[in-house]
Amino acid sequence: MKKAIFPGSFDPITNGHLDIIKRTSKVFEELIVGVLVNPEKVSLFTVDERVEQIKNVVKNLPNVRVKKFSGLLIELMNKEGAGVILKGLRSISDFEYEFQMASLNNKLDPSKETVFMMTKAKYCYLSSSSVKQVAMLGGCIKGLVPEQIIPDIIRKINSK
Ligand code: PNS
Repeated sequence: MKKAIFPGSFDPITNGHLDIIKRTSKVFEELIVGVLVNPEKVSLFTVDERVEQIKNVVKNLPNVRVKKFSGLLIELMNKEGAGVILKGLRSISDFEYEFQMASLNNKLDPSKETVFMMTKAKYCYLSSSSVKQVAMLGGCIKGLVPEQIIPDIIRKINSK
């Protein structure tokens, strides 16, 4: 299994996501960051804005690509020829949801496997929603997200 997909909303990408991307890009030959187009979810950034932000932060990782997708993750995997779903695991509280998703995806297509990478302890409290909350309340998000997207987040929040 040489090609993996790291799916998510990435609204916005955090340093926890980026750490998982960097570490797993050394494990797989190719890693695709799959950004979900989800019209049902209210997001801070449009999917195209998120794709551009991620492309910018992974530009020095030659085996990492970024793609937006809608519909089933399994369909994207078949289109891209990927056999592995990569997920980050922060805590026991992530486990139940991730176990359910991994089992469902394996039921939909038994040839696909989900592989988990443990989040570094220093990022285990971090999530896109907590970053947005801190930023909306005027707190400092330095160290929580890649430096280059901080101005985007502040600009977007101020424009809402
Ligand atoms: O960052 P998120 O919002 O927790 O990511 C959720 C994501 C994108 C991994 C999940 O919603 C997903 O895989 N959606 C695609 C639709 C799909 O395949 N659903 C069936 C399996 S859960």
